[in-house]
Amino acid sequence: MQHNKKFFQYFREYEWSNIIAMIRNNQKDPKICSERFENKLVVITGATSGIGYLTARRFAKAGANLLCINRNLQKSEALCLEISREFGVQCQYKIADLSSLKDIKAVADELANLELPIDVLIHNAGVYLTKRELTTDGLEKLFVVHYLSTFVINYRLIDKLKSQRKARILMVGSEGHRFAAWGLNLEDLNWEKRRYSGLKSYGSAKTAQLLSMLIFDQLFENTGVSINTMHPGAVKTETGQENGPLYRWFKRNFFDKSLKSPLISAEALFYLGASPEMDHVSGKFFNLTTAEIPAPPALDLEVASELWDKSLEMTGI
Ligand SMILES: NC(=O)c1ccc[n+]([C@@H]2O[C@H](COP(=O)([O-])OP(=O)(O)OC[C@H]3O[C@@H](n4cnc5c(N)ncnc54)[C@H](OP(=O)(O)O)[C@@H]3O)[C@@H](O)[C@H]2O)c1
Repeated sequence: MQHNKKFFQYFREYEWSNIIAMIRNNQKDPKICSERFENKLVVITGATSGIGYLTARRFAKAGANLLCINRNLQKSEALCLEISREFGVQCQYKIADLSSLKDIKAVADELANLELPIDVLIHNAGVYLTKRELTTDGLEKLFVVHYLSTFVINYRLIDKLKSQRKARILMVGSEGHRFAAWGLNLEDLNWEKRRYSGLKSYGSAKTAQLLSMLIFDQLFENTGVSINTMHPGAVKTETGQENGPLYRWFKRNFFDKSLKSPLISAEALFYLGASPEMDHVSGKFFNLTTAEIPAPPALDLEVASELWDKSLEMTGI
């Protein structure tokens, strides 16, 4: 019932001008930042493929040291070898399956105990699943990888980042948050009571990420720590490979043909992470590097606050 009420509230709040702005912004190139980023530490999740891989290389090219949080050991070793040889920077990795609460908490604690300051933290890892999958903790997988992992890591890092007095958190979100047009169903975050769809679940998880940004942004106010979310463009990556052969065939033969190079995503993330123009900018959603207004369900502070409590409960932190 509560959920239905919200639907009508959101319906009234939708503005066509925001959708038109999004369509226009989808055509824009990202702003380019030509700063060096030497002796800075950039932590990035999911750097073994697609957007994360090119973003890791972009920061390394500017001189940054990297700490990559990946799930695959061999790919991580190859990545760090390639990056340190090519750019002469330090590239380290930690292995964590960001669908497992145990791994998420362990890596969050390791990051919180790092002696070095984290200059930029990029939450990039993600999956797209057409069928509902449960994690070892019995939670819906997209919700955990896209949202709960970012929540736990950010939460555990609050004190460290505040004490640094300077840090930027970037979350790779998506225009796909708009698929959750009727908002987050807090009574069924695990998709037990509703028919699952990949698009709706993806939209919900990305909406949850945006909602958590509202609260983190308040917590970090006047501390020198910023948190922003960005849509990396519609770009050709390995996303969706876990799905069946039919999906993969369609992706290869239809979707991929209209997609751009993820180099634009890497340039955008570098701009958001390194440009002085981003000093003091926080709590915003960017389409690449253009600030944009997200869909109404992603701006609902009441739901954001309830989600915060539920997230603490679900993760036991
Ligand atoms: N591509 C697009 O057009 C697009 C549009 C909007 C938003 N995004 C977002 O962009 C982000 C990156 O996606 P992508 O398109 O670059 O896809 P991708 O090529 O599939 O890369 C995803 C990365 O996340 C890692 N990953 C997946 N599940 C993980 C887990 N459980 N634990 C740890 N790491 C995990 C993957 O590791 P492996 O290498 O081991 O698989 C890979 O490094 C995602 O958050 C996605 O939602 C993408």
